[in-house]
Amino acid sequence: MRYAETRMNDTDVIQPLNGRPPYEPGDADAFYAHVGTGGKVEADDWMTDDYRAAVLKFVEMHANSELMGVLPERDWIMRAPTLRRKLALTSKIQDEVGHAQLLYRVAEDLGKPRATMLADLLAGKTKFHNVFHYPTRSWADVGIIAWLVDAAAIVSQQALRDSSYAPYARTMRKICWEESVHVMHGRDVVLTMMSGTDAQRAMVQEALDRWWGPLMQMHGPPTDPAKDKDLHWGIKAKGNEQLRQEFLSIYVPRIREIGLRIPDPALRLDETTARWVYTEPDWDELRSVVTGHGPASQSRLEFRRVNYAATQWVRDAIMGNAAAA
Ligand SMILES: [Fe+2]
Ligand SMILES: [Fe+2]
Repeated sequence: MRYAETRMNDTDVIQPLNGRPPYEPGDADAFYAHVGTGGKVEADDWMTDDYRAAVLKFVEMHANSELMGVLPERDWIMRAPTLRRKLALTSKIQDEVGHAQLLYRVAEDLGKPRATMLADLLAGKTKFHNVFHYPTRSWADVGIIAWLVDAAAIVSQQALRDSSYAPYARTMRKICWEESVHVMHGRDVVLTMMSGTDAQRAMVQEALDRWWGPLMQMHGPPTDPAKDKDLHWGIKAKGNEQLRQEFLSIYVPRIREIGLRIPDPALRLDETTARWVYTEPDWDELRSVVTGHGPASQSRLEFRRVNYAATQWVRDAIMGNAAAA
């Protein structure tokens, strides 16, 4: 069986570009021609304000998602069924917080201070991915999240290894390598339960039934490639629908082969077009959830606010903020 796996090696690293980029500072047309034809941009290269804002928005949301994404799994650390599972889950959560750390650094270089990004997240001004706005109800959720949510994320994150913004592309190479281990961890949790009792198999099926809708919404509604500036400027390499099709192609057979039923009677591969046909995801639910109206949106944000306030003394001490002491 193949895995969506990424390996790091010496040739897999984009070296920082030395010297001047092939356009003059201030020449927006030449800049867009550069990024539109696969050219890379370093943090200290000249870039248009629109490009800078678009990369910042994209990376900031990604960083927020890594940070908020640990909360559904955190709920299960103390309830993990064995010591090995507890260690694996804790390690995954540490990885995800590390991803947030790396991505906030990339975003900071684009001009927005980390404190402002955290303040905006806590105030609900910036977004994080839809799947992290839902509660986790059983241990099977831990398996389904690590296996399928991380897999859906990996499909888009692998495409980001070719982002025109080179610091982001480099960071994604490290992150993808770790995400592929998360997918294997999740699959192992799911396989163990599917090899267990009828009650365990029912628990996994019930989790899949709840997560399938958010999973199908996760890559977002199809966009018009001609109007998608993130695609146009090479910030991302693939459109939403292409990513969803890739996810379905890889994971539908894997989900079915272990005896799970996908809760969409319309789901099928159209042999003539080689495209998956499926029930239209609930885009209204997606819009509502990512704007802070999901079932766990406010409780998760409140948890972060309480903890941010409780750890303020640490930041004050480290920053030498005498006024607040
Ligand atoms: Fe991650
Ligand atoms: Fe992950």
